[in-house]
Amino acid sequence: MSDNLEAKIEQAIRNPQNLGEMKDADAVGTVGNADCGDMLRMWIKFKEENGRKIIDRATFQSFGCQTAIAVASVATELLKGKTTEEAKMMSGEDLAAPLGALPPVKIHCAQLVEGALRNALAPETQPISDGRNDASTLLQQMSSAGKKVKVVLD
Ligand code: FES
Repeated sequence: MSDNLEAKIEQAIRNPQNLGEMKDADAVGTVGNADCGDMLRMWIKFKEENGRKIIDRATFQSFGCQTAIAVASVATELLKGKTTEEAKMMSGEDLAAPLGALPPVKIHCAQLVEGALRNALAPETQPISDGRNDASTLLQQMSSAGKKVKVVLD
């Protein structure tokens, strides 16, 4: 990993943007990576502006690596003002772009964020309590699945 990328990731995880659940979200998406065991949940709130429905805010929670947290932090900033169609067209690479190019071994970290976004946006407005995302927090969902969760705070 380049020094510049490492510095940007470090900066993003030291002050993550849009971290935490969103009580009044219109959509929520959760995704887990079976290989590394990391999970990420994203909440989205829409608003109407000039006759268009756009993303007002996006927040996230993650039990994931630092790269996934950094990508989610910058991605939730990038999503503001995007329509659903525009957001759906964003790849993991697009969502991680403010950090710079990720090394091949970290590409799946950005894809975790992309997966949570796609999960939240399909269908366009997913009911919060559709069975997949009943738990209001990622920790509750993991706990209810009988998983042991170790949370490490910096
Ligand atoms: Fe799994 Fe980064 S190592 S999301």
